[in-house]
Amino acid sequence: MAVQLVRVDRSNPAVSGDLSATPVVKDAIERSCYDCHSNQTRWPWYSAVAPFSWWIHYEVEHGRRRFNFSSWTDYTSDPGTEDQKLDEVARLIASGAMPPWYYLAMHPRARLTPEERIAITRWIADEKSSHASSASR
Ligand code: HEC
Repeated sequence: MAVQLVRVDRSNPAVSGDLSATPVVKDAIERSCYDCHSNQTRWPWYSAVAPFSWWIHYEVEHGRRRFNFSSWTDYTSDPGTEDQKLDEVARLIASGAMPPWYYLAMHPRARLTPEERIAITRWIADEKSSHASSASR
């Protein structure tokens, strides 16, 4: 039981500039991605139990660092950066790499429906084309 004595920090940092998208897209991404890619992690009960606690903590820290929907306005301040982030999201959703399979095993509701995938893909295409048209103006 000694491992239980090592505590991990389960606090959430402040949200600085949250993603804005159509309601369908926002809801789907919140349900499916926010536990690891936002500052609004809903820490599950098993995240308090070592050794899961260490592993989950690592995943969330790592996921947030790579990609954080709570800092989306940092990306949108430069259309090139946002386009690149949007491309990554589109690629990982299309390939089924995100959300990760081990997370879906614990959180089956996080699975995106086919309709949600289409809505997200459309939203990404719209966002990118609006950048392209404002750049050519
Ligand atoms: C269980 C936690 C978890 C969930 C849920 C999750 N991710 Fe991730 N994601 C990660 C981790 C960890 C990494 C870093 C992977 C690496 O560096 O190898 C990552 C990386 C990424 C990256 C960056 C990839 C790159 O090549 O840099 C993107 C984009 C991403 N995830 C999008 C998503 C989207 C979109 C969703 C929801 C559909 C999602 N993730 C759900 C944990 C998660």
